[in-house]
Amino acid sequence: MTSITRRMVIAGGAALLSHDVAAAPTASTSASFSGLHTYALSKGMFFGTAVDNALLHNDAAYMAKVSEECGMVVAEASFKWDQVHPTPDKFAFEQADDLMTLAVRRHLRVRGHTLVWHEAMPDWLLKELSPAEGEDILTKHIRTVVQHFRNRLTHWDVVNEVINPEDNNPGGLRTSPWLKALGPRYIDIAFETCAATDPGALRVLNEYGTDYALPWEEKKRGALLDLLASLKARNVPIQAVGLQAHLDASQVALDQKVLNNFVNSIAAMGLSIVVTELDVRDNNLPADIASRDIAVAAHARAWLDPVLACPMVLGVLSWGLSDRRSWLNDMYKRADSLPQRPLPLDADLRRKKMWDALADAFVSAPPRTPA
Ligand code: G3I
Repeated sequence: MTSITRRMVIAGGAALLSHDVAAAPTASTSASFSGLHTYALSKGMFFGTAVDNALLHNDAAYMAKVSEECGMVVAEASFKWDQVHPTPDKFAFEQADDLMTLAVRRHLRVRGHTLVWHEAMPDWLLKELSPAEGEDILTKHIRTVVQHFRNRLTHWDVVNEVINPEDNNPGGLRTSPWLKALGPRYIDIAFETCAATDPGALRVLNEYGTDYALPWEEKKRGALLDLLASLKARNVPIQAVGLQAHLDASQVALDQKVLNNFVNSIAAMGLSIVVTELDVRDNNLPADIASRDIAVAAHARAWLDPVLACPMVLGVLSWGLSDRRSWLNDMYKRADSLPQRPLPLDADLRRKKMWDALADAFVSAPPRTPA
C-alpha cells in the first residue's frame, strides 16, 4: 500500500472541490496522517462516516477512531424530520447541536441528512400533509432547519430515496406522502428553498439501489438519470447525487463498466457525486470470519474502483465506522445470528481488510482536478 506523505495530503486537501469547506489538515488538526481521510485527501477527496448520538458520548474509544479515520461525519438520525420537528410548532435541535459541537471540537466537517424523506416522518406530519398545506409545511421546515445550520454544513441531502419505478408513477417516482400532497414539484420546492436559505451547502439528491446489473436496478438508474436531466432542464438548483452504496457481498451482478458509465452519465450533467452510506452486508455468506472479511473487502473494492475513477466523486462516507454497531444487523439478520462485518473497523475497533480496500481504492483513484 502506498505510504501517504504530508506533502501529498496538503496538496490533495487544497484540491477539495466541495465548496471549500474542508481545508487540508495540518499536524494540529489531524491525529495522524494514517487514517482513511488522509488517503482520500491525497486525491482531493474526503472520507467520513455516520454517527449516532448514543455513540457520541457513550463510546469514547469509538469517537477517537472517528477522529483518526474521518474528516466528516453525518448524523444517522438526529437531523431528520422526526427528531428535529417532532410537533407542528416545535423544533428540537438539541441532539443535532450536540453532534455539531462534538464534530467541531474534533475538527470534523458535518453533512446534513436529510430534509425530505418518506420515512422518519412524525405522525403529525403524516396527518397534516395535504395539497393545501403541503408547500407551507415543507418550506417552513426547510427554511427553519437549514437556517439553524447555515454556513456550518458541507452538504444537505435535500431529498432522499425519491425513485421507485415499481410504483409505476410517471418518471419512476416513489409513491410517498410528498408526491401525493404536492406532486413531483415537491422536489423542485425542496431544492429551491434549501438554495435560498443556505447557498453554501452542496445540494444533494440521495438514492440507493443503483449498484448492480440487475433489471430493477437498471430501471432505477435510468429513472434517476431521467429525473436529473429534467431537474437540470428546469434549472432546479441540484448540485450533486448521493449514492448510498448499501452493498451485498453475495451479489454477483456487480458490473464495473455499468457502474462507471452510470457515474460518468451523472458527471456529464455537471453534477458532483458523493458516496454517502457505504457498507457491505454479509448476511448471505458462510460464518467464517476470515472469508467474510475477504469477500466484503473485495466487493467494496470492486464497487469503489469504477466509481472513484470519475473525478466528479467528492468523497466517501461509510454508514458507521465499526462493526460494533450497524443498522444491517436489524434489517438483514444472519440465519446464524452472528453479527455482520460490513464496515472498515471490527467491533474491537481494529482495521479490517475493508479498511485496506478503502485505502487502496483512494490510492488507486485519479486525483480530483481543482475546480
Ligand atoms: O432518538 C430516539 C430515542 O430518543 C428513542 O428512545 C428511540 C426509541 O424509539 O428512538 C430513537 O430514534 C431512533 C434513531 O434511529 C436513533 O437511534 C429512531 O427510532 C430510528 O427509526 C432511527 O433509525 C435510523 C433510520 O435511518 C430511520 O431514521 C437508523 O439509525 C439509520 O441507520 C437509518 O439510516 C437510513 C438512512 O437515513 C437512509 N438510507 C438508509 C439508511 C438505513 O435504513
